[in-house]
Amino acid sequence: MINNSLKFTVLQLLFGFIICANTISAQITIPIATRDNAIVIMTDSENRLRTVYFGKSLQNESDYATISSKYSEGNKNEIFNSTYTPSGTWNLVEPAIQVKHADGNSSLDLKYVSHKTAQLDSNISVVSILLKDPIYPFEVTLCYKIWANENVIEQWTEIKHKEKKAVLLQKYASANLYFSDNNFYLSSFHGDWAKEMQPDEAKLVSGIKSIDSKLGTRAMLWQSPNFMVSFGKPASENDGMVLLGQLAWTGNFKLDFEIDRHQNLRLIAGINPYTSEYSLLPNVIFKTPSLIYTVSNQGTGEASRNLHNWARKYKVLDGQGERLTLLNNWESTYFDFDENKLKDLFKDAKELGVDLFLLDDGWFGNKYPRNSDNAGLGDWQENKKKLPNGLGYLVKEATKEGIKFGIWIEPEMVNPKSELYEKHLDWVIRQPERPEIYFRNQLVLDLSNPEVQDFVFGIVDDLFVKNPELAFIKWDCNAVIYNAYSAYLNKKGLPQSNLYVDYIKGLYKVLERVRAKYPKVPMMLCSGGGGRADYEMLKHFTEFWPSDNTDPLERIFMQWNYSFFFPSITVDNHITHWGKQPLKFKIDVASMGKLGFDIEASKLNEKDKLFCKQAIENYNSFKDVVWHGDMYRLVNPYQSDFAALMYVKPDQSRAVVFNYLTTNRFNIIANPILLKGLDPNKKYLIKELNLYQGTTSSIAADTVLTGDFLMKVGFKPNINAQRTSVLLELKEVQ
Ligand code: GLA
Repeated sequence: MINNSLKFTVLQLLFGFIICANTISAQITIPIATRDNAIVIMTDSENRLRTVYFGKSLQNESDYATISSKYSEGNKNEIFNSTYTPSGTWNLVEPAIQVKHADGNSSLDLKYVSHKTAQLDSNISVVSILLKDPIYPFEVTLCYKIWANENVIEQWTEIKHKEKKAVLLQKYASANLYFSDNNFYLSSFHGDWAKEMQPDEAKLVSGIKSIDSKLGTRAMLWQSPNFMVSFGKPASENDGMVLLGQLAWTGNFKLDFEIDRHQNLRLIAGINPYTSEYSLLPNVIFKTPSLIYTVSNQGTGEASRNLHNWARKYKVLDGQGERLTLLNNWESTYFDFDENKLKDLFKDAKELGVDLFLLDDGWFGNKYPRNSDNAGLGDWQENKKKLPNGLGYLVKEATKEGIKFGIWIEPEMVNPKSELYEKHLDWVIRQPERPEIYFRNQLVLDLSNPEVQDFVFGIVDDLFVKNPELAFIKWDCNAVIYNAYSAYLNKKGLPQSNLYVDYIKGLYKVLERVRAKYPKVPMMLCSGGGGRADYEMLKHFTEFWPSDNTDPLERIFMQWNYSFFFPSITVDNHITHWGKQPLKFKIDVASMGKLGFDIEASKLNEKDKLFCKQAIENYNSFKDVVWHGDMYRLVNPYQSDFAALMYVKPDQSRAVVFNYLTTNRFNIIANPILLKGLDPNKKYLIKELNLYQGTTSSIAADTVLTGDFLMKVGFKPNINAQRTSVLLELKEVQ
């Protein structure tokens, strides 16, 4: 019976194809081209969109129109290269979109209607392509924002309908890309608390490889929405075609990499459809998150630099600005502090020479004081015992000391032991009939509820209204979502399956309000370590906390992996008690980003204290190069016993080179390191920085070499078991 009806459907479909084939329309070619690469989309004889080319961009735009006959000969790609694959009609592979119409029917076809290009300036354009279902009043607009010079594309989809009632969106990808090549290698990143961003690279074989998250809030704790696809061979730093991508969505995501039966790659990326059928009302636009990607023909190094330039210039809040160095009290006090202890720490911060003191967790809660992680979260009033004079007093005291003051909040969360929980149980995500499940003794507030959005906005607003001089916020998010259920959606008669999406949309609404009122104040994005960092969030945050694991050896690897996708100005690195390495090693590693301290500085011996102060001064002298310069990964710690990375000022007049020994094995000999990004015609004076007083460098003080020499013959930083970390500064000399 089933077989017969299936056969009938297939016949119907075939018949449909034949009928449609009669209505041939003029072929439309739409190139999505950056400076170096292009994706070419074309209509087929039935007005459906096909991706017919992915590769280097052509000099003459008119040449793209001739691709179809040369490239996708005899329609050999059949159904696989659809530019946005619908389901329930002709498609038999993984769809990009799947819907249930208002009348319960599950079929969708999408035909090209029109497209337009908006040129925003000489570098930026937006191409939008309108597709419509021929039967239902249902439409999809594919949008591509193109930054030509940076070779970056941000792609998203807008979905809308005019049906009589809500349509259920069962799957609604941001992008559906198609690549033809012989071999594809996927690098993905997985992790856990204190083990974030661990890489894996594997050749994609036929079938679907999915990377996804179902954690709800700190969605990228176990799997990251950042990935690399390398074409023809495994990814390498300086050659080969590679795509670096990220789904810029702070919630559940899904990336499907499908090798089809012609060995081509279909990539479908978007919000995870897992329990997330979204009910879309008529005439409302559902905008998916963006898939952001860059393609380089010169390996991962160039791809990262493109992404960094783009992120600093166009995405990250104040990406081209300054950052504040800081002293954080988390690891030196945990929850155990009072005003006097904090005032001593202000002095330490001042003496060290950092810009700001950051007060971490534990400053709030009275009925349920926040003296450990099992109480008080949600009650954002100063704890009267610890801080009898309130935050205002602390801000003033810090200012008197000559440093700025910042504060930790975790506004999306609640401990069951809190007044907030007692007053507003209906604001908490929980199954009313089931036992609660905690993650770090806490639950998540329901940000799909506008009242909760007001509450979360109010926490930040209140802090700034009462303390206008507050200079920094660390916004944490420790728990995942268990027992996903919203009392608010229930009350509104909306489906529970909207929750994961509406939570994140609610979070973005709050952050937009915060930024509308406080556009500049620096904020650190933290998530019980690094379970949250994406470009949609970094529109609102100046930086992020990559991991609670600050062991510098671990950090060399972790920061290496983050560096593929994020510029160093966004990465917060603190010196803590983690790791057995010398203080110098820790400071050097932390200097490859935004430097901070989380130590009891007063307990350092005089030599170490002096060294720290000197290292901060050094950092202040070269931080501009690390924050705004071009980064080159020189020696890969996964492939050798060393790591080396350098940053070059855009005018090539200065550079800093970080070198590390990453093993304890006996008698390791380092080859000269080939530097990159310098001007071959310039001469550079090489100086070793961050040496303890009284230590002389094994590098002669007057070493001057040309950029040409340094990039071809290289330079030996003399790393060995006694010199496990070597920081070099290069300055142009005449
Ligand atoms: C998380 C953060 C830490 C610290 C604690 C405070 O674990 O990652 O840096 O702020 O919360 O509870």
